[in-house]
Parts: sequence; C-alpha cells; structure tokens
Amino acid sequence: MRIDKFLSNMGVATRTESSRAARQGGILVNGVAVKKADVHIDPEKDIITYCGRKIEYRKYTYILMNKPDGVVSATEDGRDRTVIDLLPEELQKLNLFPCGRLDKHTLGLVMLTDDGDLAHRLLSPKHHVKKKYRFESKFPLSDDEIEYLEKGATLEDGYVTKPSRIELFEDKRSGYITLTEGKYHQIKRMLESVNNKITYLERITFGPLALDEKLARGEWRFLTQNEIDELEKHK
Ligand code: URA
Repeated sequence: MRIDKFLSNMGVATRTESSRAARQGGILVNGVAVKKADVHIDPEKDIITYCGRKIEYRKYTYILMNKPDGVVSATEDGRDRTVIDLLPEELQKLNLFPCGRLDKHTLGLVMLTDDGDLAHRLLSPKHHVKKKYRFESKFPLSDDEIEYLEKGATLEDGYVTKPSRIELFEDKRSGYITLTEGKYHQIKRMLESVNNKITYLERITFGPLALDEKLARGEWRFLTQNEIDELEKHK
C-alpha cells in the first residue's frame, strides 16, 4: 500500500499533507525518511512515523457521523445523497457502510465501518445494543401510553416491540426513548400505535458511542481507539 494512502486511511493526513510532510523529511519508514509519499509499504510489518508520531495500523476504518436531515443512510441511492457522499474522496473508496439505518429525516449518530464482523455483532438482535433517541411527538403522551410503549407496543403488522425506556420531558410531547432493537421505522410505528406521530427524531447514542457535540450536522470524525475497544466488547 502507498504510504499516503495508509496515512489517509488511518485518518492521519490527507494525500497533500503527506506529500508536504515527506518533502520536509517528516515521514519515516523503519526509521528512514522517505522523500516522496508514493513509496509502497507493508502496513502490517513496517513501522511508520509521521511528524514524530508512530502510526499504529488498523485494518478497518470506523467513523462517527452526525447525520443531517434529508441524507439517506445507505451506500448508494439513485435519488438522494447518502452518508457515504458526505465523506472525502479517499474514504469513499473504502467499502464503508452505515452500521444500522436511520430514516432519511432522522438526524444524529451513525457509525460507518468496513468491519463486517463487528457490524454484524452490533446489529444482531441477540446483543441488545441500546440506541437512545431524542424525540418530539405531535400530541402529548399520557402515562398509560408511556407504560404501553415501554412494555411492548403492538405495531400495525402485529409485531410486539421489546421493552423500551421512555424519559418524558415536562411538555409530555418530547423526551428520550431507548430501544434495544431496530425494526423498520420502529419509533414512528410505535407512536402510530397510540395514534400519535413523530415530528422530530435524533439518535444520540449507539451502544457505548455518544453523538459528539463538536460535530455539526453532516460532519464526521474517526472513532478513538477507546471507542473501538468499547464496541469490541460486544462479542
Ligand atoms: N425509528 C424510526 O422510526 N426511525 C429511525 O430512523 C430510527 C428509529
């Protein structure tokens, strides 16, 4: 793999930054400075140092995104912009995909990765990964409705949802809802089961990951090693 590709995949530097750093002697391969950033390396064996920092090789890429409205959480779409379209070109070339789906008009936390095994584990119903959403509904929710939704709502197709947790704000028409499953349009359909309607939905956590308030809508960052380690615990 080319060293500039390696550094870009590891989230260390863009290709332009790598070229500049190489010209200035800032990139070392096994302790020896390279003049150009197109040198080929073996990421599993070679020791790469970028501007004095040793760069650990990670086989997979993990990204946290704050999904904006109107963008679909898919890898491609004939009509709408996808979460992949929001990434820079180098990252669009990796086979990243969103780990779980948010509806087009749902905002917030999406994790993108090319680590199929991890994604499979996190999405498997047997792992009960918690997802917390902030919601607003058209009408206030009564105590009886909260109890019904929390215990298990019967959706229009007869499916009974697993227990969830709702923390309602004082206005009774907004709050947090935490699910341990992810059926198609689940929260919207849960609210419909009590003749109500979701007017705002934003995912704020996914398992151990929390939406990063420093990320504006549409922005993303790489997961930290600590966040990756926490996700890995879901074995
Ligand atoms: N439930 C929904 O209805 N939509 C989402 O995007 C996520 C959960």
